[in-house]
Amino acid sequence: MVNTYVVVGTQWGDEGKGKIIDVLGGKVDYVVRFQGGNNAGHTVIVNGDKFILHLLPSGVLHQNAQCIIGAGVVVDVAVLKEELTALEKRGFDTGHVFVDHRAHLIMPYHIAEDIAREKARGIYKIGTTKRGIGPTYMDKISRVGIRVADLFDGATLLQKIELILAEKNPLLKQFDCDVFSKEEIYAIAMQYKAILGNRVIDGTIIVNKAIDSGKKVMFEGAQAIMLDIDHGTYPYVTSSSPTAGGICAGVGVSPAKIKNILGVSKAYTTRVGEGVFPTELDNEIGNRIGEVGYEFGATTGRKRRIGWLDLVALKYAAMINGLDYLVITKIDVLSKIEFLDIAIGYEIEGVTYEDYPSWINQQTNIKVLYKRFNGWDEDITSIRTYDALPENAKTYLEFI
Ligand code: IMO
Ligand code: MG
Repeated sequence: MVNTYVVVGTQWGDEGKGKIIDVLGGKVDYVVRFQGGNNAGHTVIVNGDKFILHLLPSGVLHQNAQCIIGAGVVVDVAVLKEELTALEKRGFDTGHVFVDHRAHLIMPYHIAEDIAREKARGIYKIGTTKRGIGPTYMDKISRVGIRVADLFDGATLLQKIELILAEKNPLLKQFDCDVFSKEEIYAIAMQYKAILGNRVIDGTIIVNKAIDSGKKVMFEGAQAIMLDIDHGTYPYVTSSSPTAGGICAGVGVSPAKIKNILGVSKAYTTRVGEGVFPTELDNEIGNRIGEVGYEFGATTGRKRRIGWLDLVALKYAAMINGLDYLVITKIDVLSKIEFLDIAIGYEIEGVTYEDYPSWINQQTNIKVLYKRFNGWDEDITSIRTYDALPENAKTYLEFI
């Protein structure tokens, strides 16, 4: 019996994945991240205590689950250290956190490059989290990346660093940035090696064996389908595949072993950073939802853009991920709004689209086709069962 569970984002991130992962985390033996890095921002509140996790899987708060940062993740070891220390200070044991030796390292020059590239793009900036995610994946694909395992191979590491700096430094100079010496990067690499120590494992083998022996394994997604490098709103996307399919490549498990795929969506939509957002509410209602829902990025603190729920995008998310379950979060934020709209199609130059058109961008003249629902006045924040919801909230959910 294959006991795998997947939690993925179905919008542009920040759907509340961290919360759902925390709920499920106590029931599984392994929590595994498969892509992205510390661009994620997962807020989890345990007994009134707030935790914001970026790189560590949100499942880390459950001491009984082994937490694995999989091969497809890009790892900033300085951030790993910070997050581990923060948890330890609050009394959590972190001995159950491991990193696959295939994972690529985010190095200081990647962060410098991310910042420099964004600046150079001017009005075409992507609005990245400036954590070095894109440049690290670029180097991985270019085959000049440094992997966790390389830290333990003293003989070739210095050569690798020399090779990469021969590419990076001229580029950084061109962007008017400071350059890095090989001694400096090597010293940082040695610090990273010490921090990682015996947390380095072969995650691929461990996870596959765990699945084969019937253990419960949860794959924790970061980001979301609409930020997917291939299927998202390119180029305003992240540099990995945050979909259920991304698990196969990111951890090295067969698609046949990916079960119980759970997508998370807010009852409305948010987006941080630039890029097309058909249902965006640049008005009073949007501001209100943003305030009530406290929509500020957990990673960068930026104000999130707000919009109505978009079923064109959600249907696309359900298709690409092959969702078995859908979790709707933050519906309580929508209380006391007279009418609620849900997007069911787009009209572009007189043509109606019910399937997400991959080519649309911020300049496309999209008339969004909405279905309108009556809102509800009740404060539903403390309601814990579906039956206790106001009729209008049930109608809204049933429609989704
Ligand atoms: P969680 O896991 C929301 C966005 C950035 C930017 C684009 C590219 O909290 O859902 P990057 O730094 O990845 O190169 O930035 O992707 N982005 C997110 N938006 N939630 C996230 O993660 C995100 N991770 C990246 O804002 O628009
Ligand atoms: Mg987030």
